[in-house]
Amino acid sequence: MTASPRILLVDDEPDLLDLMELTLVKMGLETDRAVSVAEARERLARTPYDLCLTDMRLTDGEGLEVVACASALPRPVPVAVITAYGNAGNAVAALKAGAFDYLAKPVALDQLRALIKSALRIPDTAQPDGTVRELIGQSAAMQDIRSRIAKLARTQAPVHIAGESGSGKELAARLIHQLGSRTDKPFVAVNCGAILETLMESEFFGYRKGAFTGADADRNGFFQAADGGTLFLDEVADLPLSMQVKLLRVLQEKKVRKVGATQEEPVDVRIISATHQSLAALVEAGKFRQDLYYRLNVIDLVMPSLRDRPEDIPEMARFLLGRLGGSQIKLDRDAEKSLCAYAFPGNVRELENTLERALAMCEDQHITADDLNLTPALAASSEQPGSKFPLQDYLDQIERSAILEALEQTRHNKTAAARVLGVTFRSLRYRLERLEIK
Ligand SMILES: Nc1ncnc2c1ncn2[C@@H]1O[C@H](COP(=O)(O)OP(=O)(O)OP(=O)(O)O)[C@@H](O)[C@H]1O
Ligand SMILES: [Mg+2]
Repeated sequence: MTASPRILLVDDEPDLLDLMELTLVKMGLETDRAVSVAEARERLARTPYDLCLTDMRLTDGEGLEVVACASALPRPVPVAVITAYGNAGNAVAALKAGAFDYLAKPVALDQLRALIKSALRIPDTAQPDGTVRELIGQSAAMQDIRSRIAKLARTQAPVHIAGESGSGKELAARLIHQLGSRTDKPFVAVNCGAILETLMESEFFGYRKGAFTGADADRNGFFQAADGGTLFLDEVADLPLSMQVKLLRVLQEKKVRKVGATQEEPVDVRIISATHQSLAALVEAGKFRQDLYYRLNVIDLVMPSLRDRPEDIPEMARFLLGRLGGSQIKLDRDAEKSLCAYAFPGNVRELENTLERALAMCEDQHITADDLNLTPALAASSEQPGSKFPLQDYLDQIERSAILEALEQTRHNKTAAARVLGVTFRSLRYRLERLEIK
């Protein structure tokens, strides 16, 4: 057995040390701490570290001294430095002194992880389509989601995740898998809406050589690929009825038959499904089989929309900015206010896109409300939460936001906007006047 890599953290801020230590321990690494240059020297002399991370400014000296000391050891230890916000000169000096990389404060944890991984050459074990990430948010709704996810991870029951688009359904599914006993086995995510109906059976269950033209070898399907792990059926409402029957059978029997095979093979797969549509309504409408619905929906998890937890927006924005490589970028107060007032129909994904765009637009390391470019149309309805009275004001507010949205969509072509709204041109003109929309 090889020992885990050992990392020395040098900083005089206990909070930052705690945070970094927690992150590294979660990555399965061993850590030691030193709070001064003197203590760092002492530890470096005694222990063969794989890596050292030091703050630039320490109570008894400079991080550069730690860099020099680590580089001068018989077996030099690679060092990365943490520099104060906006102090690029410092970072350059550290690199010249032999540091292999630097992080700017405030330290973004994903950047810290990436730096450590590349320095230690830890392979990225995450799924090719994205790493498992933490769920951000301290709102009651989000705390509830986190505790439910932890509980669901301990069971093997099928889970159905509902929620608006961009609300974190896939992220939740990955977490249930990651925190559970199947974590070392595959998590296979399938977008049920993206597979041609004719290919579905072979994609899900695999096929035998010669089953059809072009089948020149045996091939596994999603079920075999996920064996022992979790199969995530995303947009499960998009499954055609013919496939729903076959899926139900597999879930009941826990066996699949490859296309062209005579034998069935056992599979052990935990099913997590998700859709932004209402499965119950689809069952009602005869578009989704009720028996399959009961199978999938043994436990349900409903992801709250961002609109229902506006208090999470600032933290979420900072987290996403960090992930987008903008951890040094500040959000102006006005920008934060306009984010919190916006309704985010596309939820966290829309927030992410908004920030990515703003990041490209912003100047001088800070994002203004202008950079965000949020249409007030959608902000209007949530600007005064709970103000449903007096009724006329409330209705006006809704009407105004619908009209502004239609105008936005049609690039202010009133005739087209009227059509979108399903009212006559005259009626729209009247409403524009009444609501004093210019
Ligand atoms: N609570 C959260 N904390 C941090 N990131 C989040 C959170 N919720 C969502 N995200 C991020 O938002 C993006 C969208 O999330 P995800 O893909 O899980 O949503 P979804 O509900 O599956 O969306 P869709 O219905 O559009 O497929 C991802 O980048 C995800 O990492
Ligand atoms: Mg999704």
